[in-house]
Amino acid sequence: MKFEEIEQIEEQYQVETYAKMNIAVETGRGAWVWTSEGEKYLDLYGGHAVCATGHSHPHVVRAIQEQAEKVLFYSNLVYSEIRAKAAEKLVAIAPESITKAFFCNSGTEANENAMRMARFATGREKIISFTGGFHGRSADSISATFLGKYRDLGKPNVPGHVCAEFGNLDSVRELADDQTAAILLEPIQSMAGVTEAPPEFFKGLREICDAHGIVLIFDEVQTGVGRTGNWFFSGSEFAGGVEADIITLAKSLGSGVPVGACLVNDKVSRNIKTNDLGTTFGGGMLAMAATVATLEAIEKDRMRENIAAVESHLRERLKEVEEVVAVHGKGGLIGIEFADNCKPVHQKLLDRRIITGTSSNPKILRLLPPLSVKKEEIDLLIDALNERGAG
Ligand SMILES: Cc1ncc(COP(=O)(O)O)c(C=O)c1O
Repeated sequence: MKFEEIEQIEEQYQVETYAKMNIAVETGRGAWVWTSEGEKYLDLYGGHAVCATGHSHPHVVRAIQEQAEKVLFYSNLVYSEIRAKAAEKLVAIAPESITKAFFCNSGTEANENAMRMARFATGREKIISFTGGFHGRSADSISATFLGKYRDLGKPNVPGHVCAEFGNLDSVRELADDQTAAILLEPIQSMAGVTEAPPEFFKGLREICDAHGIVLIFDEVQTGVGRTGNWFFSGSEFAGGVEADIITLAKSLGSGVPVGACLVNDKVSRNIKTNDLGTTFGGGMLAMAATVATLEAIEKDRMRENIAAVESHLRERLKEVEEVVAVHGKGGLIGIEFADNCKPVHQKLLDRRIITGTSSNPKILRLLPPLSVKKEEIDLLIDALNERGAG
């Protein structure tokens, strides 16, 4: 089908969601996608922060194919070898205090369950989250989302949510008390414009949580699964070694097959009884095969080491781009700050067949490339920003 036809049918039959780019993606390999018109695009947005292993990584594709031949699905009503492997592997790569995994299907669902687990663990209801944070669009997650217009879209909001200022410990101290179940945050606020906080902030949060018996939840839907060069932000040097009680994951975890997860410590899991939590699809065999293969591919291809090296290269090369005033983020979660609104830059790049992301900060262009992206592919971005090379 030609692009115009696909566009017309989608517009006619699909409910409005995001503002779309004017391309229809048909195939993908590594950091590249090909469109219905046979045009090749460099995808530095990684299929919306999802394709950490690159598009259709052969190891992941093979694992999905093999699993599909065996059995597509059975729920947590039965045991499963591939689910056992996925849970064991995730706990093995997680910070030391994490001992168990709960599987679901998306980022918002992981956050909903994390907040519920915190309420089970504490018997309290109040949740502190932050200015600029985004946690998803289901009722509890959107109520914890204080970025822009989102919270209002979820009205009536779930009661018990309060907002502190990201990076400001005093604002957290004012709200934290013995009625607080959880502090929930994106350790790097992606959609806000890749906003960071220093390790001292995370150390302070841990102290506040410990003083009041509050559960600390890191929403690592974007920062998790190798994105920063570490498997997780929790426990890393960026967090000052601080470990969250619950880490929520989605996006990259299944390389594009929908998977969400909460990784939890004993303090959290010991309060959860049979039937307190559940989901039909969470932990299904196809999703678990994708999860195991994703983690294996990241390990086998040394993608965490790669993305750390690519980040250094990118930072160095961005010094050549006059309009860039600052570079934010870690590893493969990068915010390029321009002196002015970067929407025209985003469009110029798209015209030169390079996909990047915007953010809620008009001056910040976001990159969330596959963790396997090559330095030479980053060079194509620099050339395009400087308007060199073939257009
Ligand atoms: C940090 C963060 N948390 C949660 C979500 C929600 O994830 P999902 O869209 O899978 O529900 C997102 C989605 O962009 C996110 O970036």
